[in-house]
Amino acid sequence: MGAVIWQKVTTTNTTGGASIMGSFPYPRNGILKLDYEFILIFKKQGDAPKPTKEQKERSAMTTEEWNTYFSGHWNFAGAKQEGHLAMFPEELPHRLIKMFAFRGDTVLDPFMGSGTTSLAAKNLERNSVGYEINREFIEIAKQKLNTRQPDFMGTEYEFLHDTVKGDVTAAIEQLPYQFKDPHKLDKKTDPRKLTFGSRIEKESEAEREEFFTVKEILSPEKVRLSNGLTVKLIGIKSEPFTHDKAVGYLTEKIKGKRIFLKYDKLKHDEENVLLCYLYLENKTFVNAHLIKSGLVGIDCSYEYRCRGKFLEMGELVQD
Ligand SMILES: C[S@@+](CC[C@H](N)C(=O)[O-])C[C@H]1O[C@@H](n2cnc3c(N)ncnc32)[C@H](O)[C@@H]1O
Repeated sequence: MGAVIWQKVTTTNTTGGASIMGSFPYPRNGILKLDYEFILIFKKQGDAPKPTKEQKERSAMTTEEWNTYFSGHWNFAGAKQEGHLAMFPEELPHRLIKMFAFRGDTVLDPFMGSGTTSLAAKNLERNSVGYEINREFIEIAKQKLNTRQPDFMGTEYEFLHDTVKGDVTAAIEQLPYQFKDPHKLDKKTDPRKLTFGSRIEKESEAEREEFFTVKEILSPEKVRLSNGLTVKLIGIKSEPFTHDKAVGYLTEKIKGKRIFLKYDKLKHDEENVLLCYLYLENKTFVNAHLIKSGLVGIDCSYEYRCRGKFLEMGELVQD
């Protein structure tokens, strides 16, 4: 049905120092701030239940609300991330619920996380159902919804644990649509370490789908992520004289930062460590920056996609 551009008003630098790591202040490699998101609106086929007259009247929006909500651009801040990364602010489901659900309707959030959608639904007198794969969020959702405190509406809560029973493969075969991932599953990577979407903060670290946080710089070529996974940067060879400086460089640029990984044909080294190209959230290519810094050598002991590019960079550094 369309899309809304949500411009996340923010006073902090959310992109991890793009101006420093990009080519600032010169062209051509400045990096755009990812300070917006698209909200895509879809409509389910079929007839929706008819609201009663009273329901309709009690769900009316003011003219101001209507004009704000149905404009193509929304401007409000993102949520402060506590305990759960990728939380959205209550204002987001609040608007969508007012736009598309009558009082007393039931709202579904298939990826419930900390329960922001249910909170917005409760505050707008709508029912809600949420699915969440990670049990650890139940406690966070309970706190967010203040379930221990009875409210004047007499809100009731139910938290159900479910385990899959029966023949899952046969059940999937029955589904009208099945998503087939074109990427081959890398069996050597422990899928339990690559989390589904996000995870509760443990010892004040957090992570979310596709993104990880760098916990520790083990050496110029090896870093540990906050999910416990150790990864090795493709093409990087530490040099004895600049070893400590390279570790310092990485500590400053990536420690505690959110990153994502890309892989090459060869997925693991001889010690079964995952080989990767490491990028900051703002797409800064860390392997390349490290080589450009002149603090590391280039590992040519095996074939990888960026080898030629890295060698060129290394030559430029020497010149
Ligand atoms: C982006 S977060 C949602 C955050 C939520 N909007 C909030 O404000 O807290 C996505 C959530 O989906 C969950 N998730 C991922 N795959 C899932 C699945 N197959 N079934 C249920 N939940 C899933 C993740 O654990 C994560 O908590």
